[in-house]
Amino acid sequence: MGLASASLFRTCGAYVILAGRSEARLETARQRLGDAQTLAFDITDSEQVTEALSRLPEESLDCLVVTAARVTHGPFAEQPVAEVREMFEARFWGAYGLVRAALPYMRAGGAIVLFSGVLSRRPGMNCAGLGAACAAVEALTRGLALELGPRLRVNCIAPGMVRTELHDRVPEERREAMFRSTGESLPVGRIGAPEEIARAVLLAATNGYMTGHVLDVDGGHTIRQYATRQ
Ligand SMILES: NC(=O)c1ccc[n+]([C@@H]2O[C@H](COP(=O)([O-])OP(=O)(O)OC[C@H]3O[C@@H](n4cnc5c(N)ncnc54)[C@H](OP(=O)(O)O)[C@@H]3O)[C@@H](O)[C@H]2O)c1
Repeated sequence: MGLASASLFRTCGAYVILAGRSEARLETARQRLGDAQTLAFDITDSEQVTEALSRLPEESLDCLVVTAARVTHGPFAEQPVAEVREMFEARFWGAYGLVRAALPYMRAGGAIVLFSGVLSRRPGMNCAGLGAACAAVEALTRGLALELGPRLRVNCIAPGMVRTELHDRVPEERREAMFRSTGESLPVGRIGAPEEIARAVLLAATNGYMTGHVLDVDGGHTIRQYATRQ
């Protein structure tokens, strides 16, 4: 979704900077986009974050979009607590630390777009920790919007299920079955595409009257029926 957003921003004439942990993956993404800068860092490593950002001129960023996150699932009583802590480390503390470090690099009038997920308000089995981490990011969004305004706006995108590399570790057959059954349970009848989320990111980045908002882009996940539609 980060790459799809960068691609849409490019189409709109923006200069984009791609970030992630892997130099090789960043280079592949950069080649797809054409003219773009890359910054390799791990969002959970504050020293790497500080060093990477120091390569940018101060007050040079109009928009910061944070999609990096770790996902873990498991039955509450069985999932190792350390695993859930690691997820909070990337998803919540990663976003928290990056926004803090990026403040001097943000231009007045700029926008920050964070990412959560529908699980924050519509829980799923084996996802209690993940839902809580998403809810923490949403609360952070509202707090930051209040505190950083009017200099900056802060919003959060809460996607439903979207076909991305995030799901690649699920074996293909199981993954496609999951996409199909989730899609069928949604009012729109299918799961989402990264490009559809990118349009919501662009809205949050450019609408100057929108801040402190959590935008569900989920095919109607939060209002779906419990049973699959007949
Ligand atoms: N896809 C869905 O169905 C879905 C649903 C609800 C919510 N979400 C949330 O939406 C956001 C975007 O999801 P996505 O599906 O686009 O994820 P994705 O395809 O897995 O992409 C995540 C990106 O973040 C980078 N990243 C991961 N960990 C990082 C770290 N520690 N430091 C720096 N970069 C890191 C990854 O690159 P490297 O691995 O190369 O670092 C990758 O480019 C996430 O917060 C996700 O949890 C996704």
